[in-house]
Amino acid sequence: MKLMLVAGTRPEVIKLAPVIRAAEKQESVETVFVGSGQHYDAEMFDNFVKELELPKPTRYLKTGSGTQAEQTAKILVESEKVLKEFKPDLVLVEGDTNTVLAIGIATVKLHIPLGHVEAGLRSYDRGMPEEINRTLVANCAELNFAPTEKAALNLIYEGITPWKIYVTGNTIVDACLQNVEIAGKKSKIMEELGLKRGGFILVTLHRVENVDRKEKFSQIIDAFIDLKELPLIFPIHPRSRKMLERFDLALKIEGTGHIKLIKPLGYLDFLWLLNNCAVVLTDSGGVQEEALTLKVPCITLRDSTERPETVMVGGNILVGARKEKIVKTTRKILRDEEFINRLRSVENPLGDGRAGERIVEICKKEIERKEAFLLETGLLSYMILPIKAFNKITVKELEEKMKVKITAIYNEDGEPEFFDKETVIKKGTFLRLKGEKQRLIKTQKMNNEENKKF
Ligand code: UD1
Ligand code: UDP
Repeated sequence: MKLMLVAGTRPEVIKLAPVIRAAEKQESVETVFVGSGQHYDAEMFDNFVKELELPKPTRYLKTGSGTQAEQTAKILVESEKVLKEFKPDLVLVEGDTNTVLAIGIATVKLHIPLGHVEAGLRSYDRGMPEEINRTLVANCAELNFAPTEKAALNLIYEGITPWKIYVTGNTIVDACLQNVEIAGKKSKIMEELGLKRGGFILVTLHRVENVDRKEKFSQIIDAFIDLKELPLIFPIHPRSRKMLERFDLALKIEGTGHIKLIKPLGYLDFLWLLNNCAVVLTDSGGVQEEALTLKVPCITLRDSTERPETVMVGGNILVGARKEKIVKTTRKILRDEEFINRLRSVENPLGDGRAGERIVEICKKEIERKEAFLLETGLLSYMILPIKAFNKITVKELEEKMKVKITAIYNEDGEPEFFDKETVIKKGTFLRLKGEKQRLIKTQKMNNEENKKF
């Protein structure tokens, strides 16, 4: 199997690393690693490839920065060439960047199956470019690797067929667990910055909706200026560095003493700081997940998150970009020992550290089976069927008996439920069926007839 993995930005390298590692262990898998060129500075891409001991990308696409459309279009055009050159059996992308959307479109249009790692995350905030990307790519993917059941359900809500969804855990947990120990041995960042465990606040910031708006970015910087009680370590993303200067905010920070702006860090140094900070203030997706994995309190400078599991287990608090709220919440968390004790005892809902292996196994199986990738033809339609009968029949049995596909199961309250082939169909639920019209009508009739028997 020829597996092409494409990464465009820092977090994609980190989150694909466990998949690449797992793929490389398999003799039957040939990997082709491609850099989309979205992030091009060594400190945002190549340094992560080296640090995580990944193979050097076989190709880098000529992309670079630009508007949303420019960047997406460049990757779309460039990736078509590389896909035609290497003819992979399957392409894997990770996350929700412009890279993911562009590769998704190019791949599906060449009729090559696409696997989407970290599928189904939704913030339901259409103002974010990432929300658009992750929603659209779900329709390009043949295999959706949802990190959690909640993410899988989001896909089902949108009509993605369940046999295209696998709940695998998030590969960030693999990456984090694989590297935190190494970080502890290798990183000297605490000594270099003169920090003590629990004696500083870590900050990351780069979301368009925060740093590209002067009003919001200023509120956040003002909050940082107020939080004088501990040193605040701020490895700054290139987007934020650019905007900080454009909005004349850099001057405000200079001379505060407690805010330390540093260049983006390598993965091991960053992970080690995260593991040792008192609290992390962030708008990053990956950092919310890593904080929970390392049991570090996280305050998210956004009004929504596509990682609700982190909030629900009590590891993450959303505060938006309002100065007062950021300051008040941070001070509260710094004093709240109970919060930290509770956090230490929670089970990680994001995964068990084996997502990479699972994803590679599934890719292998699906490529061998080919069934997932057959183009569907015929006059297919959909029907919602209230289940009056079919008691004790499993999804598989019903599908085989009636030659239809079940694309969703809704409970009595109309909420979709996650299911697999062995799930037993219950009375009172609703099935969303897909198939040829005659088959659907026959199934409907059976449902009514069987009902008479009950
Ligand atoms: C991108 C992703 C975001 C992800 C983030 C990870 C999209 C829409 N956004 O945001 O989802 O969370 O990466 O960090 O895909 N720049 C450099 N050097 C680089 C790369 C970027 O200086 O190597 C600067 C450029 O000025 C560029 C700006 O950063 O205009 C933004 O880069 P871009 O890739 O467009 O978006 P990110 O904000 O990095
Ligand atoms: N990270 C890093 N160095 C830094 C800041 C972040 O290695 O200076 C890592 C962090 O551990 C996480 C990832 O980068 O795994 C998050 O990337 P980012 O916040 O840029 O993107 P997002 O996760 O929001 O898409």
